[in-house]
Amino acid sequence: MDFSLSEEQMMIRDAARDFARTELLPGVIERDNLQKFPAEQVKKMGELGFLGMMVDPKYGGGGMDTMSYVLVMEELSKIDASCSVIVSVNNSLVCYGLEKYGSEDQKQKYLTKLATGEKLGAFCLSEPEAGSDATSQKTTAIEDGDHYIINGTKNWITNGGTADYYLVIAQTHKEKKHKGINAFIVEKGWEGFEIGPKEDKLGIRGSDTHSLIFNDVRVPKENRIGEDGFGFSFAMKTLAGGRIGIAAQALGIAAGAYDLAREYSKVRKAFGTEICNHQAIAFKLADMHTSITAARHLVMKAAWDKDQGNDYDMSGAMAKLFASQTAMDVSVEAVQVHGGNGFVKEYHVERMMRDAKITQIYEGTSEIQKIVISRGLLRD
Ligand code: CAA
Ligand code: FAD
Repeated sequence: MDFSLSEEQMMIRDAARDFARTELLPGVIERDNLQKFPAEQVKKMGELGFLGMMVDPKYGGGGMDTMSYVLVMEELSKIDASCSVIVSVNNSLVCYGLEKYGSEDQKQKYLTKLATGEKLGAFCLSEPEAGSDATSQKTTAIEDGDHYIINGTKNWITNGGTADYYLVIAQTHKEKKHKGINAFIVEKGWEGFEIGPKEDKLGIRGSDTHSLIFNDVRVPKENRIGEDGFGFSFAMKTLAGGRIGIAAQALGIAAGAYDLAREYSKVRKAFGTEICNHQAIAFKLADMHTSITAARHLVMKAAWDKDQGNDYDMSGAMAKLFASQTAMDVSVEAVQVHGGNGFVKEYHVERMMRDAKITQIYEGTSEIQKIVISRGLLRD
């Protein structure tokens, strides 16, 4: 394995770093306080090509590899995890799912607009009674001539209110269980498609999360993705890559919190010296840096596996499991290093601690990652 970065990968990483510092940092506290969606920033990220990074240029994407994508995710997440989850969902769930499994017509009609950032996507699997237990889909999609009719509710959908196109997973043939599930492209504004109120959240408060209600929504058959019954497999295969993006998000949150803690420890004085000279603080920095380095290796390994065409279910799950725990541990310690100031919004680390928690929950909780890893280990 060679993780040395190419010139191009370093350039895109540096571009993301500059963008995060100049465009995301100003206003990040206000957006968090007000739960304000970063509309301007998302527009600019589209212009920079961050919303369809891995999509083939013939569909308007950047044609980059997964390694470049995780580098960008890390840099954006160091400053604003609300923005990076928008990037993650659009790239690795929506664009990837459509490019890999969509029809040519679907790619021309939808992917080209999503990859350039002209339109935003959402991925709708979870339901009030089907989160981790994703095969228990209650939303139905019943065939009716040239259409399917969708009824049901999706929960906690990222970009729920701001997306234009929604990939919706629903049950068509209940008796076939997960083999009867389908995935569809649904457009905002279609009759019977309602967006529920915005959730008031602990973290990633700039990202908008909504429930979605489907009341007899008519979806043309050509908007089904793949063969009849492919929907659950579609969701699982797509999420395997999505988890690499969230692992990179967690890594970025940890790295951002660590950078702030290290700098603070070099200027804050207690007992006549900078606090980094107290071994208790220096050892915290050592532990933080060690965990972050280990997490970065796991994230890069998963990205490398995907780029090499290797199976990445397990490496992605391991990266997400470890990086999300690292994000939690490091951000808690970063608050501790900041003392009272760590509890104050202007120092950023309390927001990072709140944002870190979601990385252990979405795109499969840590317990679910352990199921994926252990099943993979025992399969052979
Ligand atoms: N690729 C392809 N197929 C897969 C797969 C994968 N990675 N993982 C499972 N499958 C297939 C299985 O092979 C099986 O199909 P067959 O019977 O044809 O072999 C089918 O899916 C069912 O698998 P299981 O029997 O293992 O199903 P299970 O009920 O035990 O659940 C699970 C498996 C891994 C726990 C799964 O339900 C899961 O991943 N749950 C978590 C859901 C999740 O991650 N949700 C995230 C929502 S999106 C999101 O959160 C976005 C965001 O926040 C920003
Ligand atoms: P549950 O499944 O009810 O789990 C509750 C607890 O039980 C967890 O600790 C879980 O790990 C544990 N548990 C459950 N089953 C097992 C088991 N078999 N073994 C051991 N432990 C178990 N979903 C989407 O589809 N699209 C999105 O864009 C999206 N964005 C989200 C954004 C936010 C801010 C949030 C909060 C959620 C989002 N989700 C999204 C939903 C997210 O994926 C689910 O919340 C997550 O998969 C967990 O499902 P649940 O909330 O139903 O928890």
